[in-house]
Amino acid sequence: MKPNRRLGKGGPSVGTIGYGAMGLEGYYGATDEDNAVAVIRHALDEGCSLIDTADAYGNGHNEQLVGRAVADRRNEAFVATKFGIVFDPDEAGTEVPTGWGFSLNINGTPEYAQRCLDSSLKRLGMSHIDLWYIHYPDPATSIEETVEAMAAAVRAGKVRYLGLSNVTADQVRRAHAVHPIAAVQFEYSLWRREVETEMLPILRELAIALVPWSPLGGGFLTGTIGALEEDDFRNNNPRFQGDNFTANKQRFAPLMTLAEELGITAAQLSLAWLLHQGEDIIPIPGTRSRERVTENAKSAEIGLDAEALEEISELAAPGMAQGQTLLP
Ligand SMILES: NC(=O)c1ccc[n+]([C@@H]2O[C@H](COP(=O)([O-])OP(=O)(O)OC[C@H]3O[C@@H](n4cnc5c(N)ncnc54)[C@H](OP(=O)(O)O)[C@@H]3O)[C@@H](O)[C@H]2O)c1
Repeated sequence: MKPNRRLGKGGPSVGTIGYGAMGLEGYYGATDEDNAVAVIRHALDEGCSLIDTADAYGNGHNEQLVGRAVADRRNEAFVATKFGIVFDPDEAGTEVPTGWGFSLNINGTPEYAQRCLDSSLKRLGMSHIDLWYIHYPDPATSIEETVEAMAAAVRAGKVRYLGLSNVTADQVRRAHAVHPIAAVQFEYSLWRREVETEMLPILRELAIALVPWSPLGGGFLTGTIGALEEDDFRNNNPRFQGDNFTANKQRFAPLMTLAEELGITAAQLSLAWLLHQGEDIIPIPGTRSRERVTENAKSAEIGLDAEALEEISELAAPGMAQGQTLLP
């Protein structure tokens, strides 16, 4: 893979393409534990050092997987995890509707943050987390209060860098004033581009990296998705449903054709395009396959000229995808 990128100006260096481990919990199809561990280790082999997990993925299981995979390679991995989505039914939180027919239970209180941190460290089997995000902001707790609690974890040596996920631009500014923020995670891909208008300029002003989640549109942009299995989590996503899905397939078909013309895969086109939007962008595609980890990592070596970049941008213009996105 091509040279590394930095998480923020003067921040730590990570692989240009990261790896998102969420899909190893079976949300988009099953896999077994040994394969999951092998895939994460292969991501490290390919230089995808930013390994993204969250305490809520698989109700803590995903952190255990990541911990197992990197146990003897701790220095090669830059491990990011998140807290704030309550997954234990006995824990309190604030209900946040997502727009996808279900609600999340969110808790960003200092007391909950402290407990989550210790639980995450235990599951990961690590003495520190490299990057710790609030997964969704808690509407009942100010972002300042949450980030102050996270900053205490940095001072205690349990966390190296702080991140925010699914926040507004205003929350980024307020959080950054409490403690430097290294990275913001938000959905960003050729089928969801809102981040370009308000968020990216502010991140650049504050020298904060953008970590696009679902950089392949949850698989849609790879052009390989057919009918989904009944238990596939993407059935909740309106963009994968009925007429929306049919319309989206038609609208994005020219993008798939362009990838073919360029001699690259559609997944590589999507990731390479994201990387060309700035040196401060570090996507974290997820896959259950080692071959696809390699394919995705190779996108960091693909050069797209101005003409290709413009054509891609036009073929996947902002607002082109049909169907409500996950909030915010
Ligand atoms: N902060 C948040 O709220 C949030 C929300 C969602 C996700 N995330 C993070 O973002 C990461 C990535 O997002 P995501 O997993 O939702 O979606 P994604 O990376 O956009 O897409 C994953 C899907 O694409 C398929 N895929 C990957 N590479 C492929 C390739 N080269 N060719 C064909 N298909 C390919 C995978 O299938 P196979 O497994 O079959 O290869 C999987 O179904 C997650 O793992 C998680 O860490 C964060």
